[in-house]
Amino acid sequence: MAVNRTILEISGLSLRFGGVAALRDLSLKIEKGSFCSIIGPNGAGKTSLLNCINGHYRPNAGRIVLEGQPIEGRRPHLIASLGVARTFQRIELFSQMTVLENVKLGRHFLMKAPAWSCFLRLPAMVREEFEHRRELEEEVIDFLGLSGVRNQIVASLPHGVRKRVDLARALAMRPKLLLLDEIMAGMSIEEKEDVASYLMDVHRDREVTIIWIEHDLAAVMELSEHVIALNFGVKIAEGAPEEIQANPAVIEAYLGSPEEEQLFS
Ligand SMILES: Nc1ncnc2c1ncn2[C@@H]1O[C@H](COP(=O)(O)OP(=O)(O)O)[C@@H](O)[C@H]1O
Ligand SMILES: [Mg+2]
Repeated sequence: MAVNRTILEISGLSLRFGGVAALRDLSLKIEKGSFCSIIGPNGAGKTSLLNCINGHYRPNAGRIVLEGQPIEGRRPHLIASLGVARTFQRIELFSQMTVLENVKLGRHFLMKAPAWSCFLRLPAMVREEFEHRRELEEEVIDFLGLSGVRNQIVASLPHGVRKRVDLARALAMRPKLLLLDEIMAGMSIEEKEDVASYLMDVHRDREVTIIWIEHDLAAVMELSEHVIALNFGVKIAEGAPEEIQANPAVIEAYLGSPEEEQLFS
């Protein structure tokens, strides 16, 4: 029997804001367990694409199929419960809560039963579930090097650390599909290197498929296996990093934009 290696299939996706076409008849396939990046100049439609995948935006046309199940236009919490987690370009954490509290909120999506239903279950089961959750939270906090700040209020932390908390919150959901929107923006070189190694670790066991939007093209080319380039809401190229770097349409799309000089280096 053939194994279906596709986790996400998008076809004919279009999204408009008044007269602006953010996505135009976009189709793409993401392989299970892959580390895929989406690049493109500002306004190319990258964030809009993630917003359609996780239900923040309702597309005007097209299909989004997650492991055989159509999800376009479904509510964000439903899509999250199917195993899709994301980080945000503008961090959306509860800034007056601690790191641990924010990570716990990520885990809440995994609780299939409503909180009151614990009264109907055996105490041992509840305790077991609680322990299991606590272990996962601890694991993620430790993994992302956040143990030292676990009880600090998020608002008091530097930008790079807050980005890591956002990643921890997403990872605590144990996602199948992790959507990352410019996680490295505003980070120092050291922080970027740390995040790069965390992402490689997350990806190593291949249980998490990663779709990564990033402005730092050098990092994209170093880390990803597959790159999709967008411009004006259209897919202009797709392939291995080496192919994308040499692709005339991609180079053209970036020409004249501020990042032109550091393109790929
Ligand atoms: N909520 C919105 N309302 C109006 N226009 C939007 C909205 N979100 C995105 N756009 C427009 O859609 C286009 C694509 O934006 P975006 O997806 O944010 O691009 P990128 O993330 O690649 O920079 C831009 O022209 C942007 O102005
Ligand atoms: Mg964006």
